[in-house]
Amino acid sequence: MAEKFVSVKEALAKGKGKAQLRGWAHRVRTFNDKVFVVLRDHTGVLQCVIKPEQVPEKVFQESRKLSQESSFTISGELKKDERAPGGFELQATEFVMVQRAEAPFPIAKAEAESPEFLLDQRHLWLRSRKMTAIMKVRSTVLEAIRDFFRKDGYAEWSPPIFTPVACEGATTLFEVKYFEDTAYLTQSWQLYAEAGIFGLEKIFTISPCFRAERSRTSRHLAEFWMAEAETAWQDFPALQKQTEDLICFIITSVIDKNTEELTELGQDIAKLKKVKAPFTRMTYTAVLKFLKDKEKLDIPWGKDLRTVEEEALMKHFTTPVIVTNYPKEIMAFYKPADPKDKKTALCMDMLAPEGYGEIIGGSLRDLDIKAMQKALKDAGEHADHYDWYFDSRKYGSVPHAGFGMGVERIIAWLCKLDNIKDAIPFPRTMLRKTP
Ligand code: 4AD
Ligand code: MG
Repeated sequence: MAEKFVSVKEALAKGKGKAQLRGWAHRVRTFNDKVFVVLRDHTGVLQCVIKPEQVPEKVFQESRKLSQESSFTISGELKKDERAPGGFELQATEFVMVQRAEAPFPIAKAEAESPEFLLDQRHLWLRSRKMTAIMKVRSTVLEAIRDFFRKDGYAEWSPPIFTPVACEGATTLFEVKYFEDTAYLTQSWQLYAEAGIFGLEKIFTISPCFRAERSRTSRHLAEFWMAEAETAWQDFPALQKQTEDLICFIITSVIDKNTEELTELGQDIAKLKKVKAPFTRMTYTAVLKFLKDKEKLDIPWGKDLRTVEEEALMKHFTTPVIVTNYPKEIMAFYKPADPKDKKTALCMDMLAPEGYGEIIGGSLRDLDIKAMQKALKDAGEHADHYDWYFDSRKYGSVPHAGFGMGVERIIAWLCKLDNIKDAIPFPRTMLRKTP
């Protein structure tokens, strides 16, 4: 086997002649006079047939030992075959077993297995066509986020993961032993990013975030990745526009690079193509009125929107909606009051259609130290722990804004997943930290 290996995709594009491939036995059927094996590699699947008249007897007997997920190399002649997946078959002239997989493979019939079983076997399930398709989309999403910010002159910046204080409220903090002391795993880069903009002005990150969420929903992870941006001199309309531009850029990139994967996952690409800026914008107060008029839902002003209310609203939209001006009282301490409507804050959430929930949260940042100290105290926190943060408001303070986008939420939406857990290789939730 001197020639070089080609991928399944390359072999299918070639369509004829000799080809040498390597991969795993996705499916095997063994007969006395032939072995059918569907070879899987990172680009796709190719049916191969091994016949005793085309390979030495020893090699044929070896191929008969193929089991599901065995690794092997194979070479032969590509032939058109309408019945084979992809329309081609490889008729083997050489075959080498790299490692015969123990049989049976723990995931025999994936369709028949429960989601929990597949999560227990995640280390093996990751090689499935479904997970491979999702992980390809994930890779495109991460690349698109970086491209989006870089083309706009943003610097990629790295926040600390061990932190001394909360950013998004103390109730979801993960506490860790830190030498003789206690630290928390970061909930968001934001407080640090606000210090970072004084040197770089426009920064972004894609970083793990941790929240001890006690909710067992299909959209909460304890460890998730957030794409965050923080921008000096940015005003509220510019912030909103940037978030919708980012979403549209990600969607265009994914359609461009992952049509095959989206189709395999059952996503309707025509529907995604209709997601175009500008998205509908509504204030929180307008949302309450909308829910009352259209859904007969009576939510008292001042109460945060829950999943049910978000879903009731989003039933009426097929593209994301930007909700602004939530009640100041229930917002994080750094969200400033809107001078035009002091009961509300200059903040936004972007909600995805089809029940995928909040995909982005962002705001202008308060510049008023006293107002922030009061909000922290009202929330039962030690305002003095944030003194280092308030320094950014003392030495050349500037208006600025930022946002965070849940990477797995976007992936779940674009890939039409039932559960956010499938958007990350090894999900961590309240009930799962293995494998
Ligand atoms: O709305 P959040 O809490 O905003 C912040 O943390 C800000 N400090 C971000 C910023 O302004 N730099 O979180 C941002 C996004 C949410 O909209 C959601 O998409 C995602 O992060 N998110 C989660 N994703 C999965 N699992 C969880 N437990 C999540 N919590 C938030
Ligand atoms: Mg939020």
